[in-house]
Amino acid sequence: MNVNGKHYRTIWLNEKDTVQIIDQRWLPHEFVIEDLNTVEDVAVAIKDMHVRGAGLIGATAGWGMYVAAKQAKSVEELEKMGDYLKQQRPTAINLEWAIDRQLNEIKKSNIEDRVNVARNVAKQIEDEDAEYCRMIGVHGYKIIEDISKRKNSTVNILTHCNAGWLAFVDYGSATAPIYEAYNRGIDVHVWVDETRPRNQGARLTAWELNMHGVKHTVIADNVGGHLMQNGLVDMVIVGTDRTTYTGYVANKIGTYLKALAAKANNVPFYVALPSSTFDWELENGYDIPIEQRSGEEVKYIQGLLNGKIEKVLLTPEQSNAVNYAFDVTPPELVTGLITERGICEAKKESILKLYPEKLV
Ligand code: MRU
Repeated sequence: MNVNGKHYRTIWLNEKDTVQIIDQRWLPHEFVIEDLNTVEDVAVAIKDMHVRGAGLIGATAGWGMYVAAKQAKSVEELEKMGDYLKQQRPTAINLEWAIDRQLNEIKKSNIEDRVNVARNVAKQIEDEDAEYCRMIGVHGYKIIEDISKRKNSTVNILTHCNAGWLAFVDYGSATAPIYEAYNRGIDVHVWVDETRPRNQGARLTAWELNMHGVKHTVIADNVGGHLMQNGLVDMVIVGTDRTTYTGYVANKIGTYLKALAAKANNVPFYVALPSSTFDWELENGYDIPIEQRSGEEVKYIQGLLNGKIEKVLLTPEQSNAVNYAFDVTPPELVTGLITERGICEAKKESILKLYPEKLV
């Protein structure tokens, strides 16, 4: 993804052997790069959402285990650091997936080689994430192309939260088909849900679509149903933090309501994800752990005031607020899953057809 003409990934190892990230807390107003030098830095970056989005949480955990390998003297110590990182955010399965992948590879090799092994595995996770998202675009743009041919005018796509480049290493999941369609000259327009309480749509998705030159309009979270009733949405594409092998989709709070509205209005509802976001063990989607964050995120809102980023109180100071970060959309509301291997139904048989190696 280009930022003012320069290509960036969202995380990288620089020439001085330091892990660097874009600190997303300050976007769209400030572009800040942060160094992650210790396991504690990595844990804070994940928990306080300097980085966020399932794919990027996984890639950060991968590089976090490289930082851990430099700090730890034994496998036991590394396992403890891995457990500590896993506790930072519970819903995105990419976090534990990346840490377990690192630990498995390190345990297979000589402990003296742990730093080299962890560096290679972290780089593999980073590159794989970018490549899988690119492939999601290659498969997914065809759905947009079909609509465009049928309609012969602008394709209006609604998305929720930020399942874009900033939620991964590059390209994004929900945005990859949109970028691919745009790059191929298809006329697309994106309805961007603001996504309270942290406004990842208004702040992040709008910022990256702007950087890429894709037409978009930011809408308040409750507008989608009205747009769908009035024929102004051709399809919905969202990302996911965890999708069970049975097709239940956990994603940013509010996704479920959009899926219900889409079903009621015959609007196709697609979920884009790389295989690292499948949960191959949980059968019942309602068993997915749902992160609850501080009510302060609901009570306060952040923005630019007189050239400075400030937080202001929205609610009465004394009011309680609750902050469920994710919800679960059942398979019957999902038209299809767009993966790096192709498109399938949100059903066990169809998912396992794409990933037969998971059939045990
Ligand atoms: O709380 P966040 O910002 O990490 O949540 C991000 C989302 O819900 C995305 O839609 C999701 O991670 C899917 S795309 C990686």
